[in-house]
Amino acid sequence: MVKIIMHGCNGHMGQVISDIVEKDPNAQIVAGIDIADQGKNSYPVFTNIDDCQVEADAVIDFSSPKAFDKLMDYCEKRTLPVVLCTTGLNEEQLARVEESAKKIAVLKSANMSLGINTLLKLVQDAARVLATAGFDMEIVEKHHNLKVDAPSGTALALADSLNEAMDNQYHYVYDRSQRREKRDAREIGISAVRGGSIVGEHEVIFAGQDEVIEFKHTAYSKAVFGKGAVEAAKYLAGKPAGRYDMSDVIEG
Ligand SMILES: NC(=O)c1ccc[n+]([C@@H]2O[C@H](COP(=O)([O-])OP(=O)(O)OC[C@H]3O[C@@H](n4cnc5c(N)ncnc54)[C@H](O)[C@@H]3O)[C@@H](O)[C@H]2O)c1
Repeated sequence: MVKIIMHGCNGHMGQVISDIVEKDPNAQIVAGIDIADQGKNSYPVFTNIDDCQVEADAVIDFSSPKAFDKLMDYCEKRTLPVVLCTTGLNEEQLARVEESAKKIAVLKSANMSLGINTLLKLVQDAARVLATAGFDMEIVEKHHNLKVDAPSGTALALADSLNEAMDNQYHYVYDRSQRREKRDAREIGISAVRGGSIVGEHEVIFAGQDEVIEFKHTAYSKAVFGKGAVEAAKYLAGKPAGRYDMSDVIEG
């Protein structure tokens, strides 16, 4: 039985994970942490992270970049493995992820779904063939109207995958409104659409002369991210310090 502390327990994802874990005989949420609490959860909730000293095997984080620094201090102090799912971390915070991984097990993924993590690999194979043959690469992502960061962390992860497959020779373009010039062959355009209740769509487009190939992933429910996060927490429990990602979980 893997004992989990849910950081951001009263948010959308915190509640999705609470439901998933309730039905999972191999996992249990032993405590929650959030800035506000109405006492609706079946586990104790702490509004100050330092007050939570409940014994646990791993922390799952779906909260806010604002909570990140205190969370990492806490996990390091208690030597707790942490599954970082919050997106929109700044450069300094991303550097801290690497530093913390020298002391504790850290798994960070912009998208916890199995489908996206498979897509991250597939587009690398496609890029090696198609971008090398002169195809332009573009990413279009769509999310609900409550999402505050753009482009999505997953769109950036897809761009990083494409770029890595092409020996990091590409740069990213988010806005073409300020320039009146043709696109550069070595750019990856990333466009963000926000509206309604769209859970998450990511499209990677390889556009060549007279032919276009598109890879598309659609998340129909936030449960896909929750399931992945719980599996990641089970995987990370008891693991030594280091930087992990979802491909480690998928490969077991
Ligand atoms: N990696 C993924 O697969 C994935 C999937 C979905 C969402 N996300 C990301 O996860 C994050 C949370 O998403 P959400 O939809 O649950 O958002 P949400 O706003 O519904 O929930 C966030 C929760 O964190 C709490 N919180 C804010 N500041 C805090 C602090 N300082 N300490 C403790 N708790 C704090 C809020 O009170 C809220 O309950 C976002 O960054 C989102 O982009 C990642």
